Amino acid sequence: MSTELSVTDLVTGYGKQEIVHGVSMAAREGEITCVFGPNGSGKSTVVKAIAGLLPVWRGRLQLGERELTGLPVHEVVRHGIVMMPQGGGVFPRFTVMENLRMGGYSLRDTAWVAQRIEALIDEYPSLQRRRHVAAGSLSGGEQMMVAFARALVPDPTFVLLDEPSAGLSPALVSETMARVEGLRERGVGVVMIEQNIREALPVADRLYILAGGQRKFAGTPADIHDDRHLMTLYMGGAA
Ligand SMILES: Nc1ncnc2c1ncn2[C@@H]1O[C@H](COP(=O)(O)OP(=O)(O)OP(=O)(O)O)[C@@H](O)[C@H]1O
Ligand SMILES: [Mg+2]
Repeated sequence: MSTELSVTDLVTGYGKQEIVHGVSMAAREGEITCVFGPNGSGKSTVVKAIAGLLPVWRGRLQLGERELTGLPVHEVVRHGIVMMPQGGGVFPRFTVMENLRMGGYSLRDTAWVAQRIEALIDEYPSLQRRRHVAAGSLSGGEQMMVAFARALVPDPTFVLLDEPSAGLSPALVSETMARVEGLRERGVGVVMIEQNIREALPVADRLYILAGGQRKFAGTPADIHDDRHLMTLYMGGAA
C-alpha cells in the first residue's frame, strides 16, 4: 500500500496570530492532491508547516506511521518530503548544476547526491548541454525543468508545490501540469496549491478547499458537480 502523508487538526500561524484553525488532509504516494482556496486562506501556511518551515502549534503531521510533527526542514527532507517554493525558486545567477546541488544540500551522502544529479540531468538533454550556464539565461520552460529536477534530487516520496504555474504563460501552465503528472508517473506523491483551477482540476486525484484557515471541502474532482458548485465551495460557502 502506498504511504500516506497526513495532516491532522493542524493549528499554526505567525507570531501570535493563528491562521490555520485545525485543518486535516491526507495525500498519497503516486497521487496528485490539490489544495485550492482564495488568497489568504492559509494554503501556503499549511504547506509550509508540512515542510517544517513553520512550527506546529497543535495537531500532527505524519508520513505513514512516522511522526513528522516538529521536525526541522532538513529532517523533513530526509524523510522524503521536498518543497518547491512559489515560482520554482531557481537562483538565476547560479548555474544549472549549482541549482541542482542545492536540491541535495541537506543530505549527508554527497557521492549519492552527485550520482542522483547525473542521473536526473541525463533525462533533460537541454539542461545537460547547459549545465554550467547561469539558470537565469534559460527559457522559462527550462528553468521549470531545473526546479523539478532539483526537487527530485533527494529522491522524494512527496513533493509540495506552492502555485507552480503562477505567473506563467498559458503554454507553460500546461507544461507545468504535464511535469506534475510526470512526478505522479514516477510514483511521487504531489501536494499542489493552485489558483489555475481549470488546469489543475483535470490532473487532481484528490482535492481540498480551504477558506479562512479552515477546510471547506475534501473530495475528488468527480465530487464537483459543475463550475458553480466549485465556485460556491471556493468562496467558502456550504457544499
Ligand atoms: N510571514 C507571515 N507573517 C504574518 N502573517 C502572514 C505571513 N504569511 C502569511 N501571513 C498571513 O496568513 C494568512 C494566510 O496566508 P497564506 O500565505 O497561507 O495564504 P494563501 O492561501 O497561501 O494565499 P495566496 O493564495 O495569496 O498565496 C494571510 O492573512 C497572510 O496575510
Ligand atoms: Mg500562498
